[in-house]
Amino acid sequence: MSAVRGEFSSRFGFIMAAAGSAVGLGNIWGFPTQTASNGGAAFLIAYLVLAFFLAYPALMAELIIGRHGQANAVTSLKKISAHKWQKHFAFMVGFGGILCAGFILSFYAIVAGWMLSATLEPIASVVGLNQTATWLGEQSLIRNVLFTLIFIALTILIISRGVENGIEKWSKRLMPALLLILFALIAYVMTQDGAIEGLQAYLIPDFSSILDANLLVSALGQAFFSLSLGTSVMIIYGSYISKKENLVSLGAYVTLIDVFIAFVAGLLIIPAMYVAQAQGVEIFSATGELLSEDTLVFQVLPALFDGMGNAGLYIGFAFFALMSIAALTSSISMLEAPVSYTVERFSVKRLHATWLIGALIALVSVVIVCNLGSLFGLVITITTKIAQPLLGLMCCLFVGWIWYRSSLLKAIQQGNPSVHNTLFWKIWPWYTKFVCPCAIGLVFLHSLLS
Ligand code: PFF
Repeated sequence: MSAVRGEFSSRFGFIMAAAGSAVGLGNIWGFPTQTASNGGAAFLIAYLVLAFFLAYPALMAELIIGRHGQANAVTSLKKISAHKWQKHFAFMVGFGGILCAGFILSFYAIVAGWMLSATLEPIASVVGLNQTATWLGEQSLIRNVLFTLIFIALTILIISRGVENGIEKWSKRLMPALLLILFALIAYVMTQDGAIEGLQAYLIPDFSSILDANLLVSALGQAFFSLSLGTSVMIIYGSYISKKENLVSLGAYVTLIDVFIAFVAGLLIIPAMYVAQAQGVEIFSATGELLSEDTLVFQVLPALFDGMGNAGLYIGFAFFALMSIAALTSSISMLEAPVSYTVERFSVKRLHATWLIGALIALVSVVIVCNLGSLFGLVITITTKIAQPLLGLMCCLFVGWIWYRSSLLKAIQQGNPSVHNTLFWKIWPWYTKFVCPCAIGLVFLHSLLS
């Protein structure tokens, strides 16, 4: 089986692909809006601490399981299981993660479809297709179905090309483009009235709220969603890393890039909110709460871009193109999880497996689009608030309690022979064994209770 498996051709390729999965709508929209509604800089500090001290160790657990198994999530988890019950548990966790990734893609594609249509809207305006521009800018069933399907088709096209020519090649192109557009937009927003006020809200912490339980739990949930944990995605990406690579530093790079882009996105979105407010758009309620969190991006930012005159059309295009790119590098990782399992488990051709699973996910997406009011929020809650933390917790249990410590050490020593003398090996094993499961359990409980 290993002879036909794909592998990332370079260190840079893996880092771009895994960071591409991690960086998505969660960082560029989710993180800034959560920051704005949870006390600004205090949330930022909590997020930074939790991302490095809790999400990074959990990410390492998933990457190591995958690299050791050199197979899809189910097979990789089974390889570290010694007893029959552990193998059943491995199937539950691996297959659960694969299902979770598929369902996340089914709602993610809808939001990404909105991003795509918002990218095309300014182009339609520039070329004088005003009716089309209005249609693209307004919520309608036909528009939503069409753009969801277009987005899924783009994801399928990349994944059907495999690891090196698909995931790696496109992540290497799209990720740097994303950073470039982000910095250009920040430079523009900083010249506008109100931007400095936004910057202060983002960067000057109010330490009195930093230990607020809600704030801590939201920051932890955001860190786990952002690093794509608990979906089997990082297990499968780990399985494509060569045994010559140092996993400890690769995982650290991915975490640093993910956190860095969330931080940079905050530098754009939070000042942009204050700029829009200075232009008369209502963003915060009288009591200081953020209004319409989910749809803010489609209300506030187009208003902001409109206020910029003709330049706003181009800036609006750049911004939504950026969101679409970020969504695409994440969605390809979500589709890879079920596709790799199907290819390896049922010996199906990659092309056939990709189209079959892509079509199934498209079907679920269309059902959700047609029942947006009742299903959209429900699927998001079940996948991101319940399944992700629970499955992430179980991966930590595998590494901490099921995998023999000596075999675990051997797996990490590949590509990093002196790891047993490092601080990482002194702390990480007990961290994944005790601290990570307890903390993720806390997030899970909170999601259930709220
Ligand atoms: N990490 C992505 C984001 O921040 O938008 C979302 C995501 C990707 C979640 C892949 C789950 C996943 F499997």
